[in-house]
Amino acid sequence: MDGPSGTGKSTVAKRLAERLGAAYLDTGAMYRAVTLAVLRAGVDPADGAAVLRVAESTDLRIDAEVGAHVHLADEDVSAEIRGPEVTLAVSAVSAVPKVRERLVSLQRRMISEARAVRGGIVVEGRDIGTVVSPDAALKVYLTASADARAKRRSKQDSAAGRAVSVDATLADVERRDRLDSSRAVSPLRPAADAVEVDTTDLDIDGVLDRLIALVDERG
Ligand code: C5P
Repeated sequence: MDGPSGTGKSTVAKRLAERLGAAYLDTGAMYRAVTLAVLRAGVDPADGAAVLRVAESTDLRIDAEVGAHVHLADEDVSAEIRGPEVTLAVSAVSAVPKVRERLVSLQRRMISEARAVRGGIVVEGRDIGTVVSPDAALKVYLTASADARAKRRSKQDSAAGRAVSVDATLADVERRDRLDSSRAVSPLRPAADAVEVDTTDLDIDGVLDRLIALVDERG
């Protein structure tokens, strides 16, 4: 499942995995954890070579389960990776080709293990259908208007105790879309065979029903 932020992707992907009894992987959390390590090392996120050095020495741990916590070595960083500093820097870190190579290979290993052990996995990100898993049984690309996405994002932020205005969130959503869609390696875009689902006027249950129908269609 791919798409920009604020489309309801995470909520829907987790609910879908639960309904299917499948494993689940949030690849955005992996890019965020590496970004946190970069910031803690005092490295400029725009310095690709230095970012890569940090990524190579980062002990990133995440399980392919709904509700899995993200760890850097033994430290649980699940909450910290959602903070504004990481959100601001993550697009630069995720644009470094060799950082992507490392994470994609880890993601592929986790996906094939989950397929073998659990029978299937729901994976969410920006390049899952195009790069990470081009042979996925179902590829979904979620979209929504920028306005709807900013409103959802700021609701999530206030629920998590981070007060940010809708306008500031809209600016951030548009900034990240621009960066994620224009990067040279694995830009955000739908795979040719992805089903696009516009969530602007759908609630979570509406999106979930649509996805379950798509899964059923494919047997
Ligand atoms: O999904 P989330 O908003 O947590 O992702 C954070 C960032 O990680 C995205 O804005 C994007 O820069 C990067 N990302 C990526 N490829 C993925 C998942 C996330 O480049 N598969």
